[in-house]
Amino acid sequence: MKRTAMIGHLSPTHAGQTVTLQGWVNRRRDLGGLIFLELRDRSGLIQVQVEPNSPAFAQADRLRAEYVAEIEGAYQLRPENQRKGLAADYEVIALRVKVLNTAKTPAFELEKGAEVAEDIRLKYRYLDLRRPEMQRALMLRSRATAAVTAFLDAEGFVAVETPMLTKSTPEGARDFLVPSRLNPGEFYALPQSPQLFKQLLMIAGFDRYYQLARCFRDEDLRADRQPDFTQLDMEMSFVDQEDVLELQERLLSHVFKTVLDVDLPLPFSRLSYHDAIDRYGSDKPDLRFGMEFMDVTDLFSGGEFAAFADAGAVKVLVAPELTRKQIDELERVAKQNGARGLAWARRNGDGFTGGISKFLTQQTAALLEQTGVQDGGTLLFAAGEWKRAATALGAVRLSLRDLFALASAGPQFHVSWVTDFPQLEYDEDRASWTYMHHPFTAPHPDDAGLFGTGRQSEIRAQAYDLVLNGFEIGGGSIRIHDPAVQQQMFAAIGLTPEEARRQFGFFLDALESGTPPHGGIAWGFDRLVMVMAGATSIREVIAFPKNNRGADLMALAPSPVSAAQLTELGLDLLQD
Ligand code: AMO
Repeated sequence: MKRTAMIGHLSPTHAGQTVTLQGWVNRRRDLGGLIFLELRDRSGLIQVQVEPNSPAFAQADRLRAEYVAEIEGAYQLRPENQRKGLAADYEVIALRVKVLNTAKTPAFELEKGAEVAEDIRLKYRYLDLRRPEMQRALMLRSRATAAVTAFLDAEGFVAVETPMLTKSTPEGARDFLVPSRLNPGEFYALPQSPQLFKQLLMIAGFDRYYQLARCFRDEDLRADRQPDFTQLDMEMSFVDQEDVLELQERLLSHVFKTVLDVDLPLPFSRLSYHDAIDRYGSDKPDLRFGMEFMDVTDLFSGGEFAAFADAGAVKVLVAPELTRKQIDELERVAKQNGARGLAWARRNGDGFTGGISKFLTQQTAALLEQTGVQDGGTLLFAAGEWKRAATALGAVRLSLRDLFALASAGPQFHVSWVTDFPQLEYDEDRASWTYMHHPFTAPHPDDAGLFGTGRQSEIRAQAYDLVLNGFEIGGGSIRIHDPAVQQQMFAAIGLTPEEARRQFGFFLDALESGTPPHGGIAWGFDRLVMVMAGATSIREVIAFPKNNRGADLMALAPSPVSAAQLTELGLDLLQD
């Protein structure tokens, strides 16, 4: 069974030759006694014509959609009136057809794949993965993997695998736990990331490490989250933040150039966390379009409009002309994202109408000048505590992007760094401080003295996120390498020395064993590939993903286990 070439690799040089092809029957049509087949493999699609008096006819007549076939025939130009594009100008006139395998009638028509309910596509994923779109996405992913590996190998990174059955690594999500049969009552945790192991590899002297690492997080799912996902995880010794960012910029540019032939402008733009929230209402702003907020807190401060007079912040953005229905929908978005409401006013000549316009008499001139709103344009305001108001307006900004296709007018890809995150965040629910990135992130050296003081909120972290088209595609930091600072950090987040030792004793011991300064980053590899492939969900670039309820609809996982298995593990289920 030797094939001459894959279908997509046939070229005009094969014209007039006899070729042998193998693949799946994409479609079969019978026309005036002739059989027309479309044969498909990973690389392409070709029309095969089987004439009624051909020795191939009897076998060809057995073929149905998704049968597997071998076809030998003459590769030739189609009649002149049927030629369209280069590849489609050729067809095969069958000389011999062999049915390699039959197939059940497919659960859905592959060509309608994109319109088929996702649950059906996931249940029959092996069929879904036959669709050219899905094959292209996974092949793109494979090329991205190859580009990353080649680059990092050339830069002296060592690929190391770290364990799957391990101890909890705090990244802010719940752990997936695995009971231990040999140690009843004890559990492994699946890694939320290889964070501690990669730091241990630096302590061990590997200098530069990378891994395409599977990570597991039990959190609520969204289009850009899976419980089981892949990070491109990296760590480097004897580096500062600039060294890490510089290498990452070269790496990401290399991947875009190799995989998509796209030149990313270097260096990437940078925004502090404060500015990202203040100007765009998000720590992962989509900068393919502008629509920056303006701050009008001072214009209203102490004024007559009570809702704005004593607000921590009043942010405004300039939107195009909006209908009442659109404004109502945007208000719903603002409320869903923590705002009490969304105030609005429409420019009408030299003044404003609608919404809160009657409260704007004193501010009219200043607002017209500061916002530059055009006649008919709408001002949208969010007021309240700074972060809450900005974040709500940030969600409105993204809804406007989708409503008016604002991103399509900008560059296809926009990459930026978000830097200077706070080291600590106050968690109102738990009434305690918590880490913003993870507890191993180093504070800015100028701010380290603020631990344990009343100014903890001012400590800046040496942390950075990589943002692509509004998605956080990576996050990392310079790490704490001084054991005393690590203890201060644990204390700041409320871990007693005993608790810190119980959870991270091995790591604290290692830190005291000669730790080089080090730092790194992890990319959300699925997210990166999703954006590169132009997909809207990471499920489109993962071969066998879970649905948004965390289920594998094909293999039917999760699923109940037998009583015997539970007993063996020393487990019992609580009855409802
Ligand atoms: P972080 O938690 O920011 O950092 O994760 C790094 C990147 O992983 C991606 N990501 C996810 N992708 C898909 N599904 C998920 N559930 C999911 N969760 C996270 C994001 C994110 O930017 N150990 C640190 C990295 C470091 O400090 O070096 C870490 O895991 O794109």
